[in-house]
Amino acid sequence: MKMNIVQLSDIHVGTQFREKVFDTVLDEVNALKPNAIIVTGDLTNEGLIKEYEKCKELISQLNAPKIIAISGNHDYRNTGYLVFKKYFPFETVNELDKDVVVVTLGTARPDRDEGEIGYRQNLWLERTMKKYEKKIKILAMHHHLIGIPDTGSDRVTVIDAGDVLRTILATNVDLVLCGHKHRPWIWTFKNLSVVNAGTTSSERVRGLFENTYNIIKIENKKIHVDLKIVGGKRIPLENIVKNYTRFGEE
Ligand SMILES: [Fe+2]
Ligand SMILES: [Fe+2]
Repeated sequence: MKMNIVQLSDIHVGTQFREKVFDTVLDEVNALKPNAIIVTGDLTNEGLIKEYEKCKELISQLNAPKIIAISGNHDYRNTGYLVFKKYFPFETVNELDKDVVVVTLGTARPDRDEGEIGYRQNLWLERTMKKYEKKIKILAMHHHLIGIPDTGSDRVTVIDAGDVLRTILATNVDLVLCGHKHRPWIWTFKNLSVVNAGTTSSERVRGLFENTYNIIKIENKKIHVDLKIVGGKRIPLENIVKNYTRFGEE
């Protein structure tokens, strides 16, 4: 069984949006014919209705059997939290096939930049993941679970990351997909990978100064993640970690 999942993130339709870049994304992703597309939040820049309308129209041009779009802190600005699900309805538990399940967490809170899982949602996550013990378990959330390099002074994260990390390890989650930092990165632990997407189409790139998205390939129960530069090359995401140099160093 072979499966391709595309992770788009931080589209930011609004003032920082690069429309031409997103047009290229539409062509590239549709040519891949992915089994599912997961958008890990910040679909809009300010949570405004006109941004939601435009983003919905753009997302509708993507072709995949399953499109899962979750909210980010930017989507929750200006009472955007009241309309997100109207524009982007999604299920919190998605069985992609008999081997793979994608579970989503809501981390955005109205008019706040930091994220939170919350006690109840964390309990729910534990119960849900336990049901899928034998499957490949993917968890998608907007805010990053673990800090990443070159984003030092920014303290905005999930305030209860420790609680959810414990749940993730206790239930053998295989892969966590995060957005928010606009900085592609992968942390690989023993049985867990935590993947951060860059920004697909916002001007606010960080660390790697190109718009990117991730392609997750699952084959024979093995997960492999590639970074795709929009209009450019496709490389293993782990190369970003291997080839890391501090700014200004050779
Ligand atoms: Fe963002
Ligand atoms: Fe964000």
